[in-house]
Amino acid sequence: MTKSIESQLERLQERHNLYLQNLLSDQLCPSQLLHEAIEYALFPGGKRIRPILVYLIGDILNVSPDCLDIIAAAIELTHSYSLIHDDLPAMDNDDFRRGKLSCHKAFHEGVAILAGDALQIYAVQLLIQKLPQYLSPQKVLAIVNILCESSGIEGMISGQCFDLYPQSLHGSSEKVPPIENLRQIHELKTGKLIMACIEMTIAAQQEAPQQQATSALRTFGNQLGFTYQIQDDYLDRYAPRQILGKNRSSDLSNQKITFASYYSREELYSLITEHYQSTIESLEYFGEKAAPLRKFTERLINRV
Ligand code: IPE
Ligand code: IPE
Ligand code: MG
Ligand code: MG
Ligand code: MG
Repeated sequence: MTKSIESQLERLQERHNLYLQNLLSDQLCPSQLLHEAIEYALFPGGKRIRPILVYLIGDILNVSPDCLDIIAAAIELTHSYSLIHDDLPAMDNDDFRRGKLSCHKAFHEGVAILAGDALQIYAVQLLIQKLPQYLSPQKVLAIVNILCESSGIEGMISGQCFDLYPQSLHGSSEKVPPIENLRQIHELKTGKLIMACIEMTIAAQQEAPQQQATSALRTFGNQLGFTYQIQDDYLDRYAPRQILGKNRSSDLSNQKITFASYYSREELYSLITEHYQSTIESLEYFGEKAAPLRKFTERLINRV
């Protein structure tokens, strides 16, 4: 990766972190305990891939950075809430997240549930309160709707429910879900929120969306979301624990069937690499304009 793209990505991450920090200091949270749990879950944070995606896609589509700050923050708040709940004893029961104790281990379990609830609704509040300065009411409504659909009952939450009870996915009475069902679960639990980064940014364009650009970005987002989760399955099984920042073998201890159950280590690694290649190829339409997004995606191949 060239130095300038590397430093561009660093700058975006810093910009996003600063934006989130300012938001939290603005936000009047009467409960100090809730505030602490939220801060704990959000900072220093994880890889911030979703906010960076929003900034890079927004740059391709000429969306104003002020709008991108808001959309990126709303997505990251939603994602962080999903991780707090995902780690709870009733779900994946994971004690570590982002290199430290998970929220329910550092705080009371009830406080962690509430911190997740608060982040989820704050993401929506943020869009409603801040976007109207920059976008028409119709656009704001469309963007809020995308976030709700992607993360709510039609999206991530159903994916998380199928992840807990894969047998409940229609047509699967067997204990081991067919690989197609697993694909569907991944698309819902992880793909939908990654797609929301793209759809919300498309909806924030001032000019009328161009069909070819929209369709290339949708292909990119669909492929990225799926690839990102099968890679997560791979890392859960094979990544060095100290690098992962979360429990390794969580899926095995929860007896989850994942892509690592269907393929050998080598097969799964090549599948992930091939999928990343075709994800990157879907950006061809944009030429040089997508160079930072291409480099960012390439870098994900070796992510942990
Ligand atoms: C982890 O997401 C959960 C998945 C959906 C795979 P990330 O790998 O983006 O986690 P953070 O935000 O960097 O911690
Ligand atoms: C998480 O999937 C998907 C979410 C919606 C949070 P995982 O349960 O595999 O994510 P990790 O491995 O705990 O980060
Ligand atoms: Mg999970
Ligand atoms: Mg988990
Ligand atoms: Mg996982």
